[in-house]
Amino acid sequence: MEALDMPVIAYGDGVGAALAGLGFTRAADGIFRDAAGRSFAQALAGPVVPKALARTYGCQMNVMDSETLLGQLATLGYGTTDAEDEADLIFINTCAIRGSAAEHALGEVGRLKALKQERPDVLLAVCGCLTQMPETVRHLQRYAPHVDLVFGTHNLHELPQLLHRAYVGEQQVVDIWRQSDAVVEALPSLRAPGARAWVNIIYGCDKYCTYCIVPYTRGKERSRRPGEILAEVEDLAARGYTEITLLGQNVNSYGKDLAGGYDFADLLRDLDRVPGIRWVRYMTSHPRDFTQKMVEAIAASDKVCEHFHLPVQAGADRVLRWMNRGYTRAAYLDLVASVRAAIPHAVITTDIIVGFPRETEDDFAETLSLVEEVGYDNAFTFMYSPRDGTPAARWADPVPPEVKKERLLRLNDRVYAIGRAKNEAMVGGEYDVLIEGPSRKDPAVYTARTRGNKLVHVPGAPGLENTFGRARIRRAHTWTLDGELVG
Ligand code: SAH
Ligand code: SF4
Ligand code: F3S
Repeated sequence: MEALDMPVIAYGDGVGAALAGLGFTRAADGIFRDAAGRSFAQALAGPVVPKALARTYGCQMNVMDSETLLGQLATLGYGTTDAEDEADLIFINTCAIRGSAAEHALGEVGRLKALKQERPDVLLAVCGCLTQMPETVRHLQRYAPHVDLVFGTHNLHELPQLLHRAYVGEQQVVDIWRQSDAVVEALPSLRAPGARAWVNIIYGCDKYCTYCIVPYTRGKERSRRPGEILAEVEDLAARGYTEITLLGQNVNSYGKDLAGGYDFADLLRDLDRVPGIRWVRYMTSHPRDFTQKMVEAIAASDKVCEHFHLPVQAGADRVLRWMNRGYTRAAYLDLVASVRAAIPHAVITTDIIVGFPRETEDDFAETLSLVEEVGYDNAFTFMYSPRDGTPAARWADPVPPEVKKERLLRLNDRVYAIGRAKNEAMVGGEYDVLIEGPSRKDPAVYTARTRGNKLVHVPGAPGLENTFGRARIRRAHTWTLDGELVG
């Protein structure tokens, strides 16, 4: 296949021109203001500094998108808030991955009707993966006229223009792009403060697993150029971030659409040299595209953490084939073996779907045996949820829901027991950790993460937030470890 080099759009240029057309230019403080000196936010939403709130569902892609929305809003003069009653602008950033996620987000939209009735000036926007589905748009148009703005995953960078349309009185603004073949660079982002930052390296997904909605909501794979990624990571390091997580639905596909043969392993090698960055993580990796070259690059690097999240989805070859995963059980086990050969202490986690259409008890037994064979540190397990528009949703599914539920419980029992045993094996050992901050339950107990992404609770005190240390593990639980700092 010929490499397609995707067009790159610089955010600042397009939005600057559009806002100039609406009477706003960028002032010395970086905020778009009108001739009277009022920020875009003040001119359209109210005299004091209006505040925005983003409710985010779904994966890290959506978390990053919300940071981008809030980053753009900062350039328009908005502040942020976590309190609904203080918010002048509310985003519901939706997820479509499973029926439950979709219902949750739409339930939230319904709940906000009362708030909108009480405070009609609040602007309500719905965005994210669910809005890429035409049936969601129809639903919102019909049943949620209190929503002012509906946009999708491909046109975040047009937020200022979309907001302007919503504020100047268009009833319900709906603007969804079906596809995008561009990568938009230099979008402002309001990142959560701390040590850790997210960096998108590839957008979209071309894998078309037969159960999955993501290729329809996020479009085709588009890699960012290496230079843009490295510049962003260098800038993050300069701003004090020490851990970065590279994001993509399939980071191992990185570079396939760029000319020049530069791939994910090359990117990891280059990132390993960025001063100031201590740890590099990535998610999610697809077993089909995980090459030996990538395993070697990770083994050779200082910064890339020894955590392999390798979503297997199922243990039986025929189910993997129906799912269109593109690997067999044996190929997956070979990959696990090559990871363990290169990095014996690697932490390996996975995602598993139970109750795929036509999955038999024998198929499920193969999933259970694979879980035993690999010995995962942890697994995210899901009951199959049919998604309209995907091939699997059209297939006959004779497996009764009670059987699916019972399989999920049996799987979870094994996953938890194995995970706990893995954690118990760490007791007495010492591990490098990034200390996050006080835990939710007890301000004297701090949470920290190992390179393998295990959560450790340690006695802590102010000043330790976002620093690196070493923890000795004292006790193991199923999900977490207790320890103490030893340096
Ligand atoms: N790109 C990632 C997955 C992102 S979605 C990958 O391929 O590994 C996260 C997880 O949600 C998937 O790994 C899968 O286990 C689960 N999932 C996706 N679609 C689902 C569906 N229709 N029903 C149940 N689980 C699903
Ligand atoms: Fe969905 Fe498969 Fe793409 Fe992952 S690789 S996002 S499961 S289609
Ligand atoms: Fe959900 Fe979209 Fe992520 S469907 S899991 S938010 S890519």
